[in-house]
Amino acid sequence: MSNAPGRTLPEDWFPGTLPENVALDASAYVETAFSFVCHRSEQPVSVRIARGASIYKSTMFDLGRSGSVRIGAYALVHGARLICDDEIEIGDYTLVSWNVVLMDSYRFDSSPAIRRAQLIRLAKGGEWLSLNQAKARPIRVGCKVWIGFDACILPGVTIGDGAIVGARSVVTRDVPPYTIVAGNPAQVVRQIKRESSANGI
Ligand SMILES: CC(C)(COP(=O)(O)OP(=O)(O)OC[C@H]1O[C@@H](n2cnc3c(N)ncnc32)[C@H](O)[C@@H]1OP(=O)(O)O)[C@@H](O)C(=O)NCCC(=O)NCCS
Repeated sequence: MSNAPGRTLPEDWFPGTLPENVALDASAYVETAFSFVCHRSEQPVSVRIARGASIYKSTMFDLGRSGSVRIGAYALVHGARLICDDEIEIGDYTLVSWNVVLMDSYRFDSSPAIRRAQLIRLAKGGEWLSLNQAKARPIRVGCKVWIGFDACILPGVTIGDGAIVGARSVVTRDVPPYTIVAGNPAQVVRQIKRESSANGI
């Protein structure tokens, strides 16, 4: 892992650098440092991207001060938004398609009066982060999962190994391993046959 400050990415169109607390394996690929413009995490290691993982353009790491994200080995994330104030974990060999949103926090209160007060404070120059009072609940996505495009994974959800989430689904509850879910709210479509690989993953 390299943690040197001021790291730029090869052939990046965006003239920015990776935050110091992003731990990127030497064999992992991140297309652009633009993916980190909404990164505000103060965790010692805020985003850990394991070997062989790929993060393609328009993926956004939207992290609050306490947010931490783990991207597993050989995982592929293509244009997703990770809204994280606590913890989001994506397992090894998992595919996250374009426009997927994983949010461990709703960020704003469900009370209209509180939201109104927050917006007024924001307009008066209040700091965005200090307005965020919503409770975050970690998201855990297992290994060999496939999340279809435009899907939304809500706070506190765990998706089991080998599961598939259909395109445009809204996942409100845990998904058992090796199960296809789809729709809004996502419902079980069917089970998938388990196959073991040489390394057991
Ligand atoms: C989830 C998915 C993999 C299921 O494919 P499948 O096993 O061939 O399933 P089927 O097409 O036979 O559909 C099974 C049932 O689920 C429903 N269904 C499938 N996908 C759905 C979706 N995204 N939303 C709502 N319902 C869906 C079907 O209507 C069908 O319902 P029925 O039994 O009442 O007729 C596929 O539909 C999907 O969403 N793929 C996304 C691929 C993607 O995002 N690719 C991006 C590139 S990485």
